[in-house]
Amino acid sequence: GSISGGCPFTGDGGVRSLLGRTNRDWWPDALNLEILTQQGKSADPMDEDFDYSEAFNTVDYAGLKADLTALMTDSQPWWPADYGNYGPFFIRMAWHAAGTYRTGDGRGGSSSGQQRFAPLNSWPDNGNLDKARRLLWPIKQKYGKNISWADLFILTGNVAIESMGGPVFGFGGGRADVYEPETVYWGTEELWVDQGVETRIQPDAGKALENPLAAIQMGLIYVNPEGPGGNPDPLQSARDMRSTFERMAMNDEETVALTAGGHAFGKAHGAKPADTFGGAPESENLALQGFGWLNDEQEIASGNITTSGIEGAWTPNPTQWGGDYFRLLFKYDFELVESPAGAKQWQPINPDPEDMAPDARDPSKKVPTMMTTADMALKMDPEYRKISERFLNDQAALDDAFARAWFKLCHRDMGPKVRYLGPEVPAEDLIWQDPVPAGTTPSDSDVAAFKSAVLDSGLTVSQLVKTAWASASTFRNSDMRGGANGARVRLAPQKDWEANEPAQLAKVLSRLDEIRGDLSMADAIVLAGAAAIEKAARDGGHKVSVNVTTGRGDAGDEHTDAESFEPLEPFADGFRNYLRTKASVKTEDMLVDKANLLGLSIPEMTALVGGMRVLGAVNAHPTHGDKVGVFTDRVGTLTNDFFVNLLDMGTKWTVVDESGDEEFVGTDRASGAEKYRATRTDLVFGSNSQLRAIAEVFAENGGEEKFLSTFIRAWTKVMDADRFDVSYAKYHG
Ligand code: HEM
Repeated sequence: GSISGGCPFTGDGGVRSLLGRTNRDWWPDALNLEILTQQGKSADPMDEDFDYSEAFNTVDYAGLKADLTALMTDSQPWWPADYGNYGPFFIRMAWHAAGTYRTGDGRGGSSSGQQRFAPLNSWPDNGNLDKARRLLWPIKQKYGKNISWADLFILTGNVAIESMGGPVFGFGGGRADVYEPETVYWGTEELWVDQGVETRIQPDAGKALENPLAAIQMGLIYVNPEGPGGNPDPLQSARDMRSTFERMAMNDEETVALTAGGHAFGKAHGAKPADTFGGAPESENLALQGFGWLNDEQEIASGNITTSGIEGAWTPNPTQWGGDYFRLLFKYDFELVESPAGAKQWQPINPDPEDMAPDARDPSKKVPTMMTTADMALKMDPEYRKISERFLNDQAALDDAFARAWFKLCHRDMGPKVRYLGPEVPAEDLIWQDPVPAGTTPSDSDVAAFKSAVLDSGLTVSQLVKTAWASASTFRNSDMRGGANGARVRLAPQKDWEANEPAQLAKVLSRLDEIRGDLSMADAIVLAGAAAIEKAARDGGHKVSVNVTTGRGDAGDEHTDAESFEPLEPFADGFRNYLRTKASVKTEDMLVDKANLLGLSIPEMTALVGGMRVLGAVNAHPTHGDKVGVFTDRVGTLTNDFFVNLLDMGTKWTVVDESGDEEFVGTDRASGAEKYRATRTDLVFGSNSQLRAIAEVFAENGGEEKFLSTFIRAWTKVMDADRFDVSYAKYHG
């Protein structure tokens, strides 16, 4: 089996920032543009009503593909194409754009064009891809806003594969660009892979890969090609590959197909020691205009290219799809050699002349092929070997496996298929797209009848709100997975998650099932939550309507890869005041992280926490039941009591578990009598100055209306976060 870390974010690092090291840590001298994005000013140059999907649908798709095909063989003197074909180089660009995706938090991946920005533009593993992106600029410029960089990276990879005879399963567009580096936790190390730090997987020291990370060292997409920490041990490399590829949702077969299929093309570059060349783009001087690493015109002209440091092609036909990779891997024994740049790599012993590769600049010259230690893993690891031998003997199986795995790699973070655009979207539904059968939209009178039945059903506001939250709050806008559509909260594994209080959840779901009539369960769950909130507001003297969308479908087990949902399990959910295990980050960091994945603003996060507390929508605490954080004596009524009571100087707070620093008791300052229990997640809204400022807005005179409207907006946003299939106008005006 593979090595997996425990809970995401747990580890031996103690309490630290969720974000690990940021661009500012790496490049303290870089121009600081963040001050221009304060006070809600956007870094995005597009108009607010710019709709990328509309723009994409007007693109001359065939023309774009024809231009990309022509680009493959249009060699530029400032970066001549190996073998006269940029195809392999572009495949590596696309692979590295998509390959940062990780299942743990759904972040990374190709969907927003992050390879343009730090730190990814400067990771050692992305060496010289600055040139690949620059080669694409004339095409990006020509098609303008109708093709995003993010889509262009992937489409170019597809066209490259096709143009060299490789199998392609399809392409879906729809990756809208962003215009600033995304804040992603990439790890805590202060050194990058090329500076020789320890790898993150050390079984002897009991060290597994920390979640959600999916690379074994800072600055890598997955593994070190030379082997763990540069140790050329194919079996240990297989171990690392398995751990890291699993984190990007790839099983053994997909891993073998992708790696072997990718390395049917192109070559590695290690002509000279890497320190002959310059630094990464983000640290290079202005005159280089965003280029890093290798910029010496003379060296480039003479073909002295160093990227990874490994040198050579995998096959004799590096610009032609075929079975040569496995043929050579199994035909020859390999010996460990060093590249001119000093990297460890494997070379076939006594190759036949026809199994030599052409020189990248001079086809008349023959040079030896090579394998990296990671490639050798496909032959040496017993499980990988079985798959490799099958592909060796069945080219059609490799074609199909590669095409499907490549499609998954490039689309895994786009969410449901309805988000794919363009003429090449495959008809076939794939299980990893989390398909949901189409629902039907109920009439307004059916909705009204159901809402009133719910309020007479004997279920409490707390139960209804908690169930709706359990259903919808799995959504993550990183990879667009989870959410209320499909009602997967009824299915394994979600129905059994501790955070969902399975016994109570089952009870609520079966009662809703009895009264839902023709509604889907998915709609019933969300509408029941809306009905409960409307009632709770009414009880507080406010008439509000919670206009959630309808028309959701119900998924079954047959539509659900249960195992793939496991990473979505919350082990901390501050909105419900739930904490299973203390993470190595502060518990309030986990709340902020979840708010970010739900697409919430600071006021929205604040209103949701305060609202769910007074609605009694908190998980039962092991010792204090359902009282923790519930600062009100009108539980089930939607008021601003949480904020009013939090900010009341009549209460004195004391930490009661010194070791954990997680639990607090609030006593009456005058009498000393206990009034409330609270967690860090509750008290941070009075302690943190920025959150306190928002709590004040909600607690002050006239603030209850503001609180209510913010709460309802945020609630609706979460409930509808995955409704990519509807037009919001009907519901939200
Ligand atoms: C190139 C390693 C998986 C496609 C390279 C290079 C290395 C490498 C060291 C040479 C870079 C250079 O010096 O220019 C690895 C490792 C992998 C892996 C360790 C996984 C364990 C993949 C996958 C694909 C892929 C999954 C695509 C499906 C390519 C291509 C090139 C390349 C097309 C050639 C680029 C060129 O000719 O410029 N890879 N790779 N690799 N890789 Fe991979």
